[in-house]
Amino acid sequence: MPRSVRDVVFVDGVRTPFGKAGGMYANTRADDLVVRCIRELLRRNPQLPPERVDEVAVAATTQIGDQGLTIGRTAALLAGLPKTVPGYAIDRMCAGAMTAVTTVSGGIAMGAYDVAIAGGVEHMGRHPMGEGVDPNPRFLAERIVDPSALVMGSTAENLHDRYPRITKERADAYGLASQQKTAAAYEAGKLQPDLVTVATRDPEAGWGLAVKDEAPRDTSLEKLASLKTPFRPHGRVTAGNAAGLNDGATACVLAAEDVARELGLPVGMRLVSYGFVGVEPEIMGVGPIPSTEKALRIAGLSIADIGLFELNEAFAVQVLAFLDHFGIADDDPRVNQWGGAIAVGHPLASSGVRLMTQLSRQFAERPDVRYGLTAMCIGIGMGGTVIWENPNWEGGK
Ligand SMILES: CC(C)(COP(=O)(O)OP(=O)(O)OC[C@H]1O[C@@H](n2cnc3c(N)ncnc32)[C@H](O)[C@@H]1OP(=O)(O)O)[C@@H](O)C(=O)NCCC(=O)NCCS
Repeated sequence: MPRSVRDVVFVDGVRTPFGKAGGMYANTRADDLVVRCIRELLRRNPQLPPERVDEVAVAATTQIGDQGLTIGRTAALLAGLPKTVPGYAIDRMCAGAMTAVTTVSGGIAMGAYDVAIAGGVEHMGRHPMGEGVDPNPRFLAERIVDPSALVMGSTAENLHDRYPRITKERADAYGLASQQKTAAAYEAGKLQPDLVTVATRDPEAGWGLAVKDEAPRDTSLEKLASLKTPFRPHGRVTAGNAAGLNDGATACVLAAEDVARELGLPVGMRLVSYGFVGVEPEIMGVGPIPSTEKALRIAGLSIADIGLFELNEAFAVQVLAFLDHFGIADDDPRVNQWGGAIAVGHPLASSGVRLMTQLSRQFAERPDVRYGLTAMCIGIGMGGTVIWENPNWEGGK
């Protein structure tokens, strides 16, 4: 049977405000965070008949308890989607939501789906990193990986060793800039449109409403310089130049471009290419470098073609390694212009769709930019990159 590949578009994306692990969402279930996102997508896009959703792929790194039970399916049912809409769970650690997007996009491109919802969640308060894991003893006994490969902060220290020009001072300056850019983005109302409010409950304070991220803070280079280096004595990685431990969820709608046009859905971005690669697990933060080279190669583009970057800031050092590799300045205005995970947080499997949602908003503001890129490093040594085209592009750079 002859098939043609269809163009895939990012229609719309939302996220919950991100909480500190065990903070404002201490008494909120992880699956309820996903449900809020799906319901908000349907509310914002009434042109989308719920029965037209062909798949719901939701990522979580720790798939037990309220993040277990095939969360894509359970969240779809809880969100009130028709029972005929299937769903499943995905895991690629930090790139869970990114992988949910690329996986359902593959399905859309080959005609298995017209419309799909993809997203991710991580409640790191309820499910601390590494909960329930049982690494095979062969990993260490046979030196398949270095022991530091299993502690993400240690992999970031290793990266500082590998690139001595990325000093603690540079990492702290990057961390401060992330906080300042996030504060400016909030001030300018850039982040709020895609935040879905969440009712919260505290046994003492009672009911509340989460309307903004909990983690961003006012800081200074002096304060950052004084923080402990928990992953190594006299190390360089601190709570100020790393993403924190967070709770949150994201979701987005993807569709075949012709179906989006038929239904009258907005077209935020057009998928160009994506790439995932493996790297040495003990320096997992370099992952986005080869994954970006791969995605660029597949797209027939060069880094100079990319007008906007949304890079996940797991650690300042890994973003700086990326920027150095591609000859981009630490403060290049094309990069994370609304700040990043060091400020807002990184609820592991949810973050990929946060990057995409923000890029899509930035595309709408920048018809002069044709291509943008979302990229992230991934535990156990991987990188993921997705390149997008701006449907609002009007020519020029
Ligand atoms: C770095 C890390 C260990 C810090 O955890 P933590 O100690 O619980 O972090 P906290 O928020 O309590 O911050 C520690 C201290 O630094 C302070 N601090 C944190 N960020 C700060 C900032 N930007 N400016 C000033 N002070 C800051 C806190 O106030 C706290 O001070 P205190 O000890 O006096 O209370 C943790 O965030 C971490 O593991 N991050 C990496 C997560 C990760 O690996 N993700 C996956 C990526 S692949």
